[in-house]
Amino acid sequence: MLARIVVLVSGAGSNLQALLDADQDSYAVVGVVADRPDAQGLARADDRGLPTLVVDPGDFPDRAAWDTALAHGIGDWAPDWVVCAGFMRILGPAMLDAFPQRIVNTHPALLPSFPGAHGVRDALAYGARVTGCTVHLVDAGVDTGPILAQAAVQIAPDDDEGTLHERIKVVERELLVDIVTRLSAVGCTVEGRRVTIP
Ligand code: GRF
Repeated sequence: MLARIVVLVSGAGSNLQALLDADQDSYAVVGVVADRPDAQGLARADDRGLPTLVVDPGDFPDRAAWDTALAHGIGDWAPDWVVCAGFMRILGPAMLDAFPQRIVNTHPALLPSFPGAHGVRDALAYGARVTGCTVHLVDAGVDTGPILAQAAVQIAPDDDEGTLHERIKVVERELLVDIVTRLSAVGCTVEGRRVTIP
């Protein structure tokens, strides 16, 4: 029985593409959600004939209403795992309650360093020599949930945000596919901040 995966995107969707292009021997992507109608990830889903849903915060009176609509829309697909793959929104209580310890996020820095929307830029500005990516479970904070896996990327002296982010994304896509594959196959146990994938 394949695990049912719903992927949330805001932008280019190359992480989504990596999930779609992988063997998918333990999971099936059953739906793709975006917070904006022009997210390129939606076209990638269309190309595969996958159902899509746009839940735009601008269409709702407040964050709570948006979060509730998101939870209901995703819930209709009965996912085992929800994967935020470049989804640039903070999830609220309705989402966290609907899918407890079942939401995964990927972040382009080695958390807890450089959380937030500008993880790549912030690592460069700080003068870090090594950064990378983190795949973690989502909790109520900003990039604060228990860590599933991390991979390091060296920062080159001539890197700018674009070149560094592209190198991070190469590593990030591989890490995300690996973790989603393993979670789909065997799940995980969470004790405090420590996560074990058996
Ligand atoms: C990824 O690096 C993700 O961690 C960050 O934005 C990027 C999204 O890339 N939040 P893509 O849309 O999957 O190509």
